[in-house]
Amino acid sequence: MSMPSAASPLSIVIDRDRPVPIAEQITINLREAIVEGRLEPGARLPSWLDMATQLGVARGTVRTAYERLIDESLVISSGAAGTRVAEKPITLPAAVHVDIPRPMQGIERGFYLKPLPFQMGVPAQDAFPAKLWSRMRTKAVRDDAMAPVGPPDPRGHPDLRAQIASYLAIARGIRCLPDQIILTSGYKNGLSLAILTLQAQGRTAWMEDPGFPMARRALELAGMSIAYVPVDAEGIQVARGVEIAPDAAIAVVTAGQQAPTGVALSPKRRRELLAWAVREDGWIIEDDYLSELQLSGRAAPAFAGTDPNGRVIHVGSFGKTLSPALGLGFVVAPLSLAERFGEVAAFLNPAPNSTTQLALAAFLAEGHYLRHLRHMKALYRERRDALNACLGMNFGVDAFAGLAVRVPLPDGSDDSAMAERALALGIAPAPLSRWRGGDGPATPGFLLGVTNLRPGYLEKACASLKQLLAEAN
Ligand SMILES: Cc1ncc(COP(=O)(O)O)c(C=O)c1O
Repeated sequence: MSMPSAASPLSIVIDRDRPVPIAEQITINLREAIVEGRLEPGARLPSWLDMATQLGVARGTVRTAYERLIDESLVISSGAAGTRVAEKPITLPAAVHVDIPRPMQGIERGFYLKPLPFQMGVPAQDAFPAKLWSRMRTKAVRDDAMAPVGPPDPRGHPDLRAQIASYLAIARGIRCLPDQIILTSGYKNGLSLAILTLQAQGRTAWMEDPGFPMARRALELAGMSIAYVPVDAEGIQVARGVEIAPDAAIAVVTAGQQAPTGVALSPKRRRELLAWAVREDGWIIEDDYLSELQLSGRAAPAFAGTDPNGRVIHVGSFGKTLSPALGLGFVVAPLSLAERFGEVAAFLNPAPNSTTQLALAAFLAEGHYLRHLRHMKALYRERRDALNACLGMNFGVDAFAGLAVRVPLPDGSDDSAMAERALALGIAPAPLSRWRGGDGPATPGFLLGVTNLRPGYLEKACASLKQLLAEAN
């Protein structure tokens, strides 16, 4: 059979300069012709040899393209009768263009962007142990691929859960069994797993005010009502929470280092909160986002480590200590809930990233994680001190346990609008009002993340900030 002419429905265009393999280009051309109806059902395709001669490619290349279309049920091979277009090839509806707003508008300036100076929530990009991590990940990919086995444990790989249990005992004062640990994709996933496990949708959650805006939105999306409980120098004001919403299902707290103020929940408030949980059958969700990444002195033990009643659900993440790109975190379930958490993980929320889990297990087992944290503490201290020196004495105060500096703005300033303008100057301070949940005016201010303030970037970032502040005054 001869090749159809260029004017026929089968004019195949091959571009040898494109980085797309020739076989794939032939597949794409034929697929389009079939889906668009230029090649009708039952039409016979040229033999491999004819097509190969016509296009000046190897016979095997055409064969690969045809086999792909057979796999997609677009053509059928009938032995000596040749290859024909299937009787009822799948046709796709015409593509429509609809603008779907991306999530986190007004909170994140975009995804996969290089962090700007002062941006919060991202660890130092230049200090991630990239070579070491990629070596460990490569080994994990190989180990995982060479040992294909049955279904993985939905709670996460046992090696990683054992490593996390040892880490928590050493660094956070938590004694738990590996079977109390459930791997997640990060803090938000841990929060959603806890809400699902407790069947708390439709009920009330205590939320610190000011508090983490992502947690606020997460609780709203989970269908929970939020009771905003003010924070003072001792952390969340438990007595206020009891007044506003005594029968709340959960209290979400950043006990170790309150976000954003940085205060630790005092021992007295911890006792009051536990007493509330025992009395009202409530649960405390501890967001331990910084783990032991506390810049001044040793981090206070985690709340879950000092909970004799088993009411604290500890939620950890490797997002701030290592990298959000890892997409790994964990929950430590109280003993009484461990089985239920495992069931919910198995059926609704299995642990992600098996290969990354293996790599992380080795990273912890070989002592790299604790070493990395020690290194990060020193680096962030240096960067915070350099920022304070650059801004001038008594200008800002530490927030986020020293990972950010809080700068007050004049009363009546619109910190959100100023943060928008800051982007044009190449800096990304976070407006303090974003952390405010309840009613009433928010105190305007900026939070300046210190983690990515590399030497060489600091002076320019400070100059831009000062320019912005001068314009506001
Ligand atoms: C208060 C707080 N909780 C939790 C997280 C961690 O979230 P993820 O695990 O999604 O990185 C962050 C990160 O910015 C945070 O600021």
